[in-house]
Amino acid sequence: MKKYIYTAITLLLLCTQTLSAQRMYTKDPKVEQRIEKLIKKMTLKEKVGMLHGNSKFFVSGVERLGIPEWSMSDGPHGVRAEINRHDWNYSGWTNDSSTYLPTGTAFAATWNTELAYKRGQILGSEARYRKKDVLLGPGVNIIRSPLCGRNFEYFSEDPFLTARMSVPYVKGLQSRDVAASIKHYALNNQETERGTIDVYASERALHEIYLPAFKATVEEGGALTVMAAYNKFRGEWCAENKYLVRDILKGEMGFDGAYITDWGGAHSTVKSAIAGLDVEMGTEKANYNEWYFADPLIEAVQKGEIPESLVDEKVANVLRVMIRTNILDPKKRFNDGVINTKEHQQEAYQEAVEAVVLLKNENNLLPMNIGSMKSIAVIGDNATRRHCDGGLSSEIKALYEITPLEGLRRKFGDKVQINFAQGYEKTSFFVPGENNGQGAGRFSEDNKVKEGLLNEAIEAAKKSEAAIIFCGLNHDFDTESADKMYMQLPYGQIELIQEVSKVNPNTVVVIIAGSPVDLVAPSICAPAIIWGWYNGMEAGNAFADIITGKENPSGKMPFTLAYSLEQYPAHAYNNYPGRNGIVNYEDDILVGYRWFDTKKQPVVYSFGYGLSYTEFSYGKLSTDKQSYNQEDKIRVKFLLQNTGSVKGGEVAQLYVSDVESSVLRPTKELKGFRKVFLNPGESQQVEIDVPVSELGFYDEEKRAFVVEPGEFILHIASSASDIKDSISIKIQ
Ligand code: BGC
Repeated sequence: MKKYIYTAITLLLLCTQTLSAQRMYTKDPKVEQRIEKLIKKMTLKEKVGMLHGNSKFFVSGVERLGIPEWSMSDGPHGVRAEINRHDWNYSGWTNDSSTYLPTGTAFAATWNTELAYKRGQILGSEARYRKKDVLLGPGVNIIRSPLCGRNFEYFSEDPFLTARMSVPYVKGLQSRDVAASIKHYALNNQETERGTIDVYASERALHEIYLPAFKATVEEGGALTVMAAYNKFRGEWCAENKYLVRDILKGEMGFDGAYITDWGGAHSTVKSAIAGLDVEMGTEKANYNEWYFADPLIEAVQKGEIPESLVDEKVANVLRVMIRTNILDPKKRFNDGVINTKEHQQEAYQEAVEAVVLLKNENNLLPMNIGSMKSIAVIGDNATRRHCDGGLSSEIKALYEITPLEGLRRKFGDKVQINFAQGYEKTSFFVPGENNGQGAGRFSEDNKVKEGLLNEAIEAAKKSEAAIIFCGLNHDFDTESADKMYMQLPYGQIELIQEVSKVNPNTVVVIIAGSPVDLVAPSICAPAIIWGWYNGMEAGNAFADIITGKENPSGKMPFTLAYSLEQYPAHAYNNYPGRNGIVNYEDDILVGYRWFDTKKQPVVYSFGYGLSYTEFSYGKLSTDKQSYNQEDKIRVKFLLQNTGSVKGGEVAQLYVSDVESSVLRPTKELKGFRKVFLNPGESQQVEIDVPVSELGFYDEEKRAFVVEPGEFILHIASSASDIKDSISIKIQ
């Protein structure tokens, strides 16, 4: 029986949390004095000038005090091309193309925290080349519904994976003196009615699912700016939500950087000012002085509605970010930014390779020795489609993007006959902002397979030794500002996959998409399936090398692929996209695999799943002790061996179950992982550390994480549905 000595435990935990959280920044008294001195020299107008946009992506400085204009840019997988100062058109520069990295879910599928740090460095370096001070990303919202249009920009259904991948990303980015902007704070889990939807979630769901990545990037990553979400939380817009901002972000998490609105996400002056908003961006009023945080803010001070010290606090937050990124000390600043280097492209390739997930490989169809074949069929609109310039704010002008067909042609075009067939036609369209964000990927005509294209594909497949179908979605579906209407593959792709698989037993399906789609039929009829993502500028090269075995797939799914949309918790409770402007997260803490596990529901491919061309064997799991105190760290160990015949990478996952709890806990939760590369026959003793404080749940009464003493089971696993070994421990 567990003993519930709550108060003592809570106190202890609070202490250990403070002790163990490695804060990236603490306030430096010298910096604070410098800030104070600068603010003392400013007029109210100058101060307020630093708190709102003076154009689409710039904020005024105070030139006479050596404070330059502050410059921002999207984006999360590449620095966005230059946009005109006063309208949304591109400026048409010739030196603003950039490295296009795999998008969020692809990046998360690598489960490689070293790549995450490098990703940040590349983005930071390219942003500095473009003289940007703040890069708007990463987006760390949780994938709650497969339909959310922005899932492709986010990382995962799991807060731990999201946090572990975003912390090094932010550190890498900020190591180049560019501030990250962690977005969208908070609970922006759908695009439908995103500007008005009012989200209700329990304190537990908030702290256990939706906030951990924000907390980790702020505390450990030292994220210097945070972007407010467009939506409301418990009746108040996130930009002016005192509880979320003043109490949690700036209070509990100790955030002392700048809290900025999403573009056009401000709704008030006084209320926002008090709640903790620092900077207003993107409001559409042509006269910038009319924005909430412009003249109305000056008036609010003059009328005594808010004290000037509140304005000073905001200016201090902006100056602190500027000082930490060396903007005020240009000689100390990272000024060697470069774009489009071979190194950046090599990293884009490496990420793309490690992102690819092998879902099915019947009779070891893959890898294919394409070089020794006479002919292959390459089928599908996605074989030739580029994706870099889609998705709205994350769109980029990539220097290049190797499509799948180009990748295969470059490597094998002179050795093998490549029979290309389009297979299906993109008959969808997308109009930003239309229909209040509902219905990305509507159709200009029927959503059926075109007989002519289907027949061509069948003919190509019949006359080829193997067929590779590049299908999935595109940014008509995976996009900012609208959600999808369904999870099915569009344009009659299922029929295409079925018919091609029938005539060619060597058919490989490559899914290009950034969010869950229905793979039930392909998982039955196609002998091999690869999840290929929007995989950046090197996608085509990476696919060709994976398909032919030059590279071995090592990615793992960052979300669950279930049998139907209705099976996902948000939809099972019928609380997506909400009713009458309100969405109530009744699915609570059971998001993603937490739900499927706990409800014992079978899925098509589980969270963390991914095959390799080699085999790995897991040895016995052991821990350094049998019993732990609250402030301890648990060290787990196991032997991992590559028992196959090629080099490969495995992501070993550590899940934890709380055997007996006073509240409902998910069957198991991810608490650690390690990506290990091994040569054939090689083995490695793998160690993963888990602080006991990580095992708790959020106690709504105590308003703190609590680890109840008693038995916990640790599982080492190859995916959420493939546990290799388990061990029981006691927490005192
Ligand atoms: C998006 C943000 C983006 C901003 C600036 C908004 O519509 O939600 O993520 O950073 O635009 O482009």
